[in-house]
Amino acid sequence: MLSPLMNEPEKQTSHIHETQVKHSVPNPKHRRKRHHFLAAWLRSPKGIGALLPSSRSLARAMVAQIDTSVPGMIIELGAGTGVMTHALLEAGIPPERLIILERDQMLHDVLAAQFPGLTVLCEDAVNLDKILAKHGSSEVCGIISSLPFLTIPKDIGQAIQVQMAKIIGKAGVIVQFTYGMQSPITKPQLQKLGLVSKRCKIVVANVPPAHVWVYRQNA
Ligand SMILES: C[S@@+](CC[C@H](N)C(=O)[O-])C[C@H]1O[C@@H](n2cnc3c(N)ncnc32)[C@H](O)[C@@H]1O
Repeated sequence: MLSPLMNEPEKQTSHIHETQVKHSVPNPKHRRKRHHFLAAWLRSPKGIGALLPSSRSLARAMVAQIDTSVPGMIIELGAGTGVMTHALLEAGIPPERLIILERDQMLHDVLAAQFPGLTVLCEDAVNLDKILAKHGSSEVCGIISSLPFLTIPKDIGQAIQVQMAKIIGKAGVIVQFTYGMQSPITKPQLQKLGLVSKRCKIVVANVPPAHVWVYRQNA
């Protein structure tokens, strides 16, 4: 096809070629992240809960649910290899508003090396309230959670959900994705915690397709 400006068919052809090459050669950084992720899955399949890191489209859809004009910290739970963390920064959220939690030591180290200016903690989300108290973060406007509630022990998952519900305050939100068809926080648990839920988006481009849920306190 000819360029509408200068009609340079040769340049246009080489651009097409470059684009094709870009797509066909896997980025070594992405390959390394997938390798770390797969290694973590082999160490703890149920604790990781996915074979692949989330796609950038899922990460953007998750981050878009947070109203960054609401004051307070944004907490990421289960950061893995950092795809959501990257989307949070890409959305213009200042690093000092972010606290990133990852329980797996190797994944934590990968994250810490990747995001040297961020608070990246190797911690279990089951200790969320203590961790936030230690970091003086009483006001939280959003939680981005990739925690695999369908595969981690139910009592641990519910203990984390209790703390998430407590810390978000009146204007905050919990954003969670799941591969399942139902809300990963069950109806009785939502009632107990005084939360309302909304399935906001289905990201079919993710492998596997993922549903984005948003929870907030019942007004
Ligand atoms: C499904 S992966 C998602 C990783 C990444 N956020 C993504 O979307 O690609 C879930 C992550 O949660 C972490 N995780 C699981 N249980 C956790 C817990 N109790 N506290 C902190 N992180 C946890 C796992 O180690 C894993 O990295």
